[in-house]
Amino acid sequence: MENEALSSNDRRDFLVKLTSVVGGAGVAAACVPFVASMNPSSDVLAKGVTEVDLTGIPPGGLRTVAWQGKPVFILRRTPDEVKASEATDGTIDPEADSKRVKNPEWLVVIGVCTHMGCVPNKEGEGFVCHCHGSQYDDSGRVVRGPAPKNLEVPPYHFIAENKILIGKAA
Ligand code: FES
Repeated sequence: MENEALSSNDRRDFLVKLTSVVGGAGVAAACVPFVASMNPSSDVLAKGVTEVDLTGIPPGGLRTVAWQGKPVFILRRTPDEVKASEATDGTIDPEADSKRVKNPEWLVVIGVCTHMGCVPNKEGEGFVCHCHGSQYDDSGRVVRGPAPKNLEVPPYHFIAENKILIGKAA
């Protein structure tokens, strides 16, 4: 009788352990598709970079491309615009132009105002945000607030003389 009681207890313990193991494995198996769905798909990864052919942009011309859902301004600066951008006078967030460009002829910045996220327009010698009046120069540096910071430079690099890849620094 005692042996039967023990074996009954053993059986119960065994069933409890077995249920826990099977249940745990089931939960783990059920999680796999959810966890897998959180990984970026190859489509999303492919969209992480934007290749831009710069041919056809005239001196002084601006092209806007989309990168990760944001507008990116690509400005082909004239020699006068390059010269004017060398000075940091009057900038609110001083930063050397040489640190903001990889080739003085090309400015590549995210076209999102650092005040509250409006998209500035290219006007005259720089960019103007009409939401609250901020202005940026042709290096994308803020010269009039309320924007506190310069237009952000995205990671990018030249993959050919006239081609850039936005989304990777090099
Ligand atoms: S969002 Fe550009 S000035 Fe306010």
